[in-house]
Amino acid sequence: MKLSHVLATLIIAWVAVFGCIQAVTLEVREGNSTCIKAELSASLSITYDAASSTRTVQVSLPDSTTVDTGSSSCGTDGGSPWLVAVFGSGHALGLSFSTNGSLYSVANLTLQYNLSDSSIFPGANSSDVVTVVSASVGIWASVNTTYRCVSPLTFRVGGAGVTFSDMRLEAYMPGNDLSPAESVCTADQTSTTASPTTATTTTTQAPVPTPPGQPERGSYSVLRNGTACLLAQMGLQLNISYFSQSQNQTIQELVNLSPNLTTVSGSCEASSATLILTQAQTTTLNFTFTLNSTSNKYHLGAISLLANWSDMTAPFSASNTSLDYLRSSLGHSYMCNAEQTLAVLPVLSVNTFRLQVQPFGVTTNQFATAEECQMDQDQMLIPIIVGAALAGLVLIVLIAYLIGRKKSHAGYQTI
Ligand SMILES: *[C@@H]1O[C@H](CO)[C@@H](O)[C@H](O)[C@H]1NC(C)=O
Ligand SMILES: *[C@@H]1O[C@H](CO)[C@@H](O)[C@H](O)[C@H]1NC(C)=O
Ligand SMILES: *[C@@H]1O[C@H](CO)[C@@H](O)[C@H](O)[C@H]1NC(C)=O
Ligand SMILES: *[C@@H]1O[C@H](CO)[C@@H](O)[C@H](O)[C@H]1NC(C)=O
Ligand SMILES: *[C@@H]1O[C@H](CO)[C@@H](O)[C@H](O)[C@H]1NC(C)=O
Ligand SMILES: *[C@@H]1O[C@H](CO)[C@@H](O)[C@H](O)[C@H]1NC(C)=O
Ligand SMILES: *[C@@H]1O[C@H](CO)[C@@H](O)[C@H](O)[C@H]1NC(C)=O
Ligand SMILES: *[C@@H]1O[C@H](CO)[C@@H](O)[C@H](O)[C@H]1NC(C)=O
Ligand SMILES: *[C@@H]1O[C@H](CO)[C@@H](O)[C@H](O)[C@H]1NC(C)=O
Ligand SMILES: *[C@@H]1O[C@H](CO)[C@@H](O)[C@H](O)[C@H]1NC(C)=O
Ligand SMILES: *[C@@H]1O[C@H](CO)[C@@H](O)[C@H](O)[C@H]1NC(C)=O
Ligand SMILES: *[C@@H]1O[C@H](CO)[C@@H](O)[C@H](O)[C@H]1NC(C)=O
Repeated sequence: MKLSHVLATLIIAWVAVFGCIQAVTLEVREGNSTCIKAELSASLSITYDAASSTRTVQVSLPDSTTVDTGSSSCGTDGGSPWLVAVFGSGHALGLSFSTNGSLYSVANLTLQYNLSDSSIFPGANSSDVVTVVSASVGIWASVNTTYRCVSPLTFRVGGAGVTFSDMRLEAYMPGNDLSPAESVCTADQTSTTASPTTATTTTTQAPVPTPPGQPERGSYSVLRNGTACLLAQMGLQLNISYFSQSQNQTIQELVNLSPNLTTVSGSCEASSATLILTQAQTTTLNFTFTLNSTSNKYHLGAISLLANWSDMTAPFSASNTSLDYLRSSLGHSYMCNAEQTLAVLPVLSVNTFRLQVQPFGVTTNQFATAEECQMDQDQMLIPIIVGAALAGLVLIVLIAYLIGRKKSHAGYQTI
């Protein structure tokens, strides 16, 4: 096999693994005319209860998604136009539209999922079909134009998250194909600066805040009788979705914790240790670690956040006490240099950077030997694998050369 073939195979495998979010085309027709057409990729993040924990799954809308012609409608009977896409066993995503003559918008977004489907929801403790609805999602366009948003847009629908990307859609269509004129979402306008299309009209999407970059690493310790009993060093970033007063809609925001504005408190008990970080009296983050004294293993079992920011309509509170992160053994610290995402609830996750913690068995104010996270170990593996692959290649070339030489040698002898 030629090297170029190997490379081609690797590239194809890479595309197959990482390019796996598929685009689907969905159309609602009545008679011979199309009234709604959508081309999009969607990924769903759904949290559900399993026997003893809360789990979150990510599903993308598969290629096999179809339009449910029974419930979809063009709204000619007086109702609203409705696109209902169905996939798998009893899952559905619905978009209902409304218009005032000059603009049309997605009036509500409906998600239905079937917890009996164990291929998506393994171990669910319920077999319900759950339906959640979110109103006024902020997708708007002028009538007779196509709404375009290549950038991902995330919406909260009940306890789930729906992320659209690469989206082109139109309702109240004048023809059977997407109109060439486009209404481009704000996220695309900022990312492509000065869009060259002439026929664009702006939509009323909220501006997307610029990401804050990597958080600074802070050193935190909890004291008991004057000596440290819990040590932590990490950069922390909150990924939070809340209803913004100024933008009059739910927004997704990344907020870094500044170590120099953060105060530390907490407690250390025999089988439970808590680290509480408070920033500017408006943000309180609570990490609770649990030690199993039988197995001598500890883990981060609970995270809660209280936030009361000026742009919030009500204080934000999120807590999950059935987590299982940062697992390590007593007498060791836990380390993870790679970025880690600790999902708490669909509305909150915590990203950690260059983390090292030890919640139990701290002596002499210092971290004990670290157990490293899988991601760090994998990152160390990459150079090893590349090295091994190169060594293998050299060996193959060498063997091929030796065989070739032996053959030509043998051929020479017979003459
Ligand atoms: C659909 O198109 C076909 C052929 O183009 C035509 O015969 C039929 O009458 C049309 N039906 C409607 C409802 O317009
Ligand atoms: C969402 O839209 C559909 C179709 O227009 C409608 O039947 C349903 O009542 C709406 N749901 C809510 C909560 O507004
Ligand atoms: C939910 O999933 C189960 C198992 O896959 C299936 O038997 C059932 O028909 C589904 N329910 C609906 C409403 O499709
Ligand atoms: C439709 O709504 C938009 C925004 O709310 C408004 O600017 C426009 O004037 C409305 N058009 C009509 C015909 O009511
Ligand atoms: C499923 O588990 C959650 C918590 O884990 C619990 O609140 C809920 O009542 C359980 N539901 C059923 C049907 O057992
Ligand atoms: C949209 O296009 C249709 C058909 O081309 C036309 O009748 C209608 O007036 C247009 N509407 C607007 C708001 O431009
Ligand atoms: C901490 O100090 C108090 C009194 O100063 C003492 O009663 C307690 O046992 C000490 N706790 C530990 C864990 O050393
Ligand atoms: C923040 O959370 C959303 C929804 O869970 C996710 O799509 C996004 O990638 C997250 N962003 C970062 C930087 O973690
Ligand atoms: C916020 O949005 C809702 C629905 O989109 C609207 O009814 C309401 O008037 C808006 N409020 C403000 C203050 O803009
Ligand atoms: C905290 O640190 C940041 C960056 O390191 C700096 O810009 C800011 O002024 C500091 N604030 C205080 C109160 O020291
Ligand atoms: C922190 O979380 C733990 C576990 O949920 C809880 O027991 C504790 O009271 C919390 N502490 C504060 C100060 O909120
Ligand atoms: C502690 O670990 C042991 C052995 O792994 C396990 O059997 C036990 O259920 C664990 N206890 C708790 C409270 O999780």
